[in-house]
Amino acid sequence: MKTYNWVTLGCGVIANQLASAMQQEGRSLYGVANRTYNKAVDFAKKYNISKVYENIQDIFADENVDIIYISTPHNTHSQYLQEALQHGKHILCEKSITLNSKELENAKQLAEKHHLILAEAMTIYHMPLYKKLYNIMKSGCLGNLKMIQMNFGSYKEYDMSNRFFNPSLAGGALLDIGVYALSFIRWFMSVTPNQIVSQVKMAPSGVDEQAGILLMNSTGEMAVVALTLNAKQPKRGMIAFEKGYIEIYEYPRAEKAVITYTENSRQEIIECGQTDNALRYEILDMEQAVSGMGNEMHLDYTSDVMSIMTEIRKTWGLSYPEEQ
Ligand SMILES: NC(=O)c1ccc[n+]([C@@H]2O[C@H](COP(=O)([O-])OP(=O)(O)OC[C@H]3O[C@@H](n4cnc5c(N)ncnc54)[C@H](OP(=O)(O)O)[C@@H]3O)[C@@H](O)[C@H]2O)c1
Repeated sequence: MKTYNWVTLGCGVIANQLASAMQQEGRSLYGVANRTYNKAVDFAKKYNISKVYENIQDIFADENVDIIYISTPHNTHSQYLQEALQHGKHILCEKSITLNSKELENAKQLAEKHHLILAEAMTIYHMPLYKKLYNIMKSGCLGNLKMIQMNFGSYKEYDMSNRFFNPSLAGGALLDIGVYALSFIRWFMSVTPNQIVSQVKMAPSGVDEQAGILLMNSTGEMAVVALTLNAKQPKRGMIAFEKGYIEIYEYPRAEKAVITYTENSRQEIIECGQTDNALRYEILDMEQAVSGMGNEMHLDYTSDVMSIMTEIRKTWGLSYPEEQ
């Protein structure tokens, strides 16, 4: 397979993880661009990256760039997606990929028009554990899926200016952590939920600090989601089937699940892949997709999740400055 030239747009916490993952693959990123140029220079030194762009726009014009990894805050994604796709670049974009379905639809149309891969960096879709659990579910040994329960809570300092609470940085629990819970649900549900109700508590800054969401699809599969940004919860997913249930902790990058078969209480531990390799799996799946070798990046699931989040925020009356 061809070796692709990756550039990161942004060099914060998650971009450091991508650069490390690339090094673990025995390679380096091809380039880096960042709003604050000096940080890009330091980042390039740290990860042995040969190219530092003075302006973000320069990466779009560089013919040697194959794949752009967008790792800036969510509210900046849409504009960068448009520019990158118009310049023929494949995109792996951090979650949440856009603010809403309209922005995502625009990007999808551009990707289709230019025959490019557009994908959200949603770890759940690339962890080997989830691919294995999907096959177990499809084997029928657990019967039909009935109910999914998801928790995700982070204790973030009550600082209304940081990206978690700041509306100008598209803060709020749904786009920051709810996207993981909903992606997990979409992975296992047979069709996307079409009935959704929720309850929300807003932070003083006006973004969602805490929410409970109840979802059901046309086959009667249901899910319950509990999110908080100001209290710790285990990152726990539980999927209940007719003949047993699956429990997963630390689910965004999970390497282990426990299946309990209800008939005889037998427990089976499933271990597959490694948490530490989460971003390596994303890189490898993305390159396979770009090379046309058929690996699925699940943009259809990303679209379903974005539709759910868009609909929920509409009922809350929560919009971001870019949407007003
Ligand atoms: N941290 C995680 O564990 C994690 C995990 C998964 C996904 N993500 C997602 O990745 C994205 C970035 O998160 P992070 O934790 O890496 O953030 P971070 O450490 O704060 O880094 C943010 C990066 O975006 C740049 N940036 C900020 N505002 C910008 C703007 N208005 N225009 C252009 N560039 C801007 C920053 O540039 P400067 O250097 O100029 O400030 C920096 O390079 C978010 O969408 C987040 O949801 C994060």
